[in-house]
Amino acid sequence: MASSFGAAQVLVASNRGPVSYDVREDGSLRARRGGGGLVSGLSAIGPDAGALWVCSALSDGDREAVRRGVGEDGVRMLDVPADVHADAYNGIANSVLWFVHHMLYQTPLEPVFDAEFRRQWASYEAYNRAFAEALAEEAAQGAAVVVQDYHLTLVPGMLRALRPDLRIGHFSHTPWAPPEYFRMLPDDIADQVLRGMLGADRLGFLTHRWAQAFTACCERFAGGLGDTRIGVHGLGADADFLRARSHEADVEERIVALREEIGTAPDGGARRTIVRVDRTELSKNIVRGLLAYRQLLEDHPEWRERVVHVAFAYPSRQDLAVYRDYTAEVRRVAEEINERYGTPGWRPVVLHVKDDFARSLAAYRLADVALVNPIRDGMNLVAKEVPVVSDAGCALVLSREAGAHEELGEDAITVNPYDVVETAHALHEALTMGAGERADRGKRLAAAATALPPAQWFLGQLDALRDETPG
Ligand code: G6P
Repeated sequence: MASSFGAAQVLVASNRGPVSYDVREDGSLRARRGGGGLVSGLSAIGPDAGALWVCSALSDGDREAVRRGVGEDGVRMLDVPADVHADAYNGIANSVLWFVHHMLYQTPLEPVFDAEFRRQWASYEAYNRAFAEALAEEAAQGAAVVVQDYHLTLVPGMLRALRPDLRIGHFSHTPWAPPEYFRMLPDDIADQVLRGMLGADRLGFLTHRWAQAFTACCERFAGGLGDTRIGVHGLGADADFLRARSHEADVEERIVALREEIGTAPDGGARRTIVRVDRTELSKNIVRGLLAYRQLLEDHPEWRERVVHVAFAYPSRQDLAVYRDYTAEVRRVAEEINERYGTPGWRPVVLHVKDDFARSLAAYRLADVALVNPIRDGMNLVAKEVPVVSDAGCALVLSREAGAHEELGEDAITVNPYDVVETAHALHEALTMGAGERADRGKRLAAAATALPPAQWFLGQLDALRDETPG
């Protein structure tokens, strides 16, 4: 039977893969390669390790590439029908599971688990099944498979049934909901999610807090963890890459342009900067960040003309109306602050919404204060990246609800993300922190932030999956 198995020894499965395709005007395809922790993690095991990344086609360009047989070595893209993918990704993963784990519902009116939800759930099952079948086909006897995230919670269980010989891991890059919130899901769906996950030999989480929440859900609703083991792997920033990349010419150019936008204080001195960089996700709390900044300008008028809030809010999941509305609200509040407080020589908020990695790095380098105030976040890599890149060491105002707080809390200024008065105080404290203390704290933050770089993060999970004897 072994001959009927595929050849891959290490497999990664995720909704979004390391490459995407656009169709050019002349009909040809252009490939774009993405970065991120998994990409550098996988490259660390080397090109000869027999690694395969299974991902979904996300766009028309991707589906066209699959149909034309265009592909990258080491990547298998699944041609999931567009409507099935939309139900699974937008309908279930981003509108239900993401909301549950980040506790985002406005519960008087939502969620409503109706017939439409059931229809979308069937697509989520079909989409998970497509992954399980592809992995079962590609994996060599006894291979290790690491499944990523809430898009693919059913895959471990489905794959276990198809291929009991495999070592199956799953890693959650998000928080996990506490039992009281998780039980909002219909009972049979909650049960399917937990049993799907428990099909894995080993489940990885970013922090102890999320691992404990998952364990608590299993104890309450699934009779415990069974044989599945739990591990915590706190993904860190990639210091070598970030330090090199942030000194390239395009970043230097962006620094000049940003300095221009920030301007100088009336006394001719440099203005202070409060920097935030986020994908505009509902959990990032950008609006309350702006409200806290407005409160700072009220409480401490001495900062007017002397500080600028540099806020980059990049588009995310714009197929969902609630994301588009949130982006509009971010713009509205930023404009309101600029109208209310701005002067001919000072724009209090510099907001950019077009994704530009080089400009993000430029802002990291300039930051006096980094504001990272999510209402709930699996880790938040920005909190880890800014201290690594910042030129002079920056003060970090950090939400206690970000996973990164578990590792960075000691040297950050901690805030309750819902309390804008406290956040305004924290911004003032961060702005007035002495240069020496800021540099010292910055160094310790950078060290903690880089404790587990992406390659080690990935290899650690792989080793644990292979070495631990199945329970
Ligand atoms: C965030 C989360 C990840 C998730 C990703 C998906 O970064 O932390 O857990 O996989 O979003 O983003 P996407 O753009 O693919 O919806």
